[in-house]
Amino acid sequence: MKYLKCLVGILLLGCAASSGNVERGNSTEVEEHYKVWNPSVNARVPDMLNYPVDSLGFPRSLEKDGTPRRRPSRDWTSGFFPGSLIQMYHITGDSVFLKRANLWLPYMEREQWNAGTHDMGFKVYCSIGEAYKVSKDNHLKAVLLQSAKTLSTRFNSDVGCIKSWDFGQDRWTFPVIIDNMMNLELLFEASLISGDPSYHNMAVSHAEQTMKNHYRTDYSCYHVVDYNPETGEVNNFLTHQGINTNSVWSRGQGWGLYGFTMCYRYTQDERFLSQAQHIADFIMNQEKMPEDKVPFWDMHSPKIPNDYRDASSAAIYASALYELYTYTKEDKYVAYADAILETLGSDHYVLGNVNAPFILDHSTGDWPKNDEIDAPIAYADYYFLEAIKRRKALTLEM
Ligand code: GLY
Repeated sequence: MKYLKCLVGILLLGCAASSGNVERGNSTEVEEHYKVWNPSVNARVPDMLNYPVDSLGFPRSLEKDGTPRRRPSRDWTSGFFPGSLIQMYHITGDSVFLKRANLWLPYMEREQWNAGTHDMGFKVYCSIGEAYKVSKDNHLKAVLLQSAKTLSTRFNSDVGCIKSWDFGQDRWTFPVIIDNMMNLELLFEASLISGDPSYHNMAVSHAEQTMKNHYRTDYSCYHVVDYNPETGEVNNFLTHQGINTNSVWSRGQGWGLYGFTMCYRYTQDERFLSQAQHIADFIMNQEKMPEDKVPFWDMHSPKIPNDYRDASSAAIYASALYELYTYTKEDKYVAYADAILETLGSDHYVLGNVNAPFILDHSTGDWPKNDEIDAPIAYADYYFLEAIKRRKALTLEM
């Protein structure tokens, strides 16, 4: 009888899923069917899956009043929500997630022509790039190649880097931010897909310059390096999101760690691997890192231990460390990432009974602007899910 009830439940859920509408709530059957990881995380899944597709409203974060902040595709975070659905597909093998993600992709495609930002990789690669890896669809391939071509227009061969931002010309001339390392994946992939090495070469140049100019002797990094676009010389070091220029903005350390690990994947260049290992060691040996391994939003905040944490940084570290382990076989990276996943999967970090398309709480988006503080944010979920996927692929005991 119990078995029959369960079977009926699963069949009903199957019908609901194919109509793209799954019940939310505490139903054990729902959580069991869409099992992504642990019970608290599984309980978030229906809200993610059911979130209405909206051509101009990619969910970005949760406002304090409990409403999702929705943004058009041009926002740097737009790719993370559809990308999270694709990560869920990888974790569960259930095509319902892929189908749902695919409904969002047409509204992302216009970004392939947007040359006004370096965030092409975050937007297009985390969504369309992830979908292309699954389907090898020719249309998605064309969008990826056009996106890489558009991004490459921001490359300056005198600097050897892609320019990050066009805004703020009163503060900098040719700003390159550490986040930009993440957009190189699109360029590396575009060379593999097209056979045109120019994208790969730009990515390598950008990574080399970043390794040379963004990093301090302790392997922490600046957020912004401003270059002279005529001579390629460094003009200045700044921050836009840290507490001050010389501080250690936690998410920036994650972008660097993830970025150099990924650069090694495409180049097999030992310099990038060594850089990633140094950054990992810097992060893992931070004196002010809390026991639970979710960093304060800036590791130099004078308010520590009474400052906000950033779950998104921890999720990025975990995902990057699992990849780093695959190249080094150093157990310490898995142990550290496992500790992060254990914390992020706890009731304190997983959103409770809130009707919103997010999994994790307690990220700090933009402290200097007092925006998205201690909040659920889409990129924390994306890298958390990617970390779970990567952890499962390691087939090691947890
Ligand atoms: N790319 C901006 C951030 O990490 O907040």
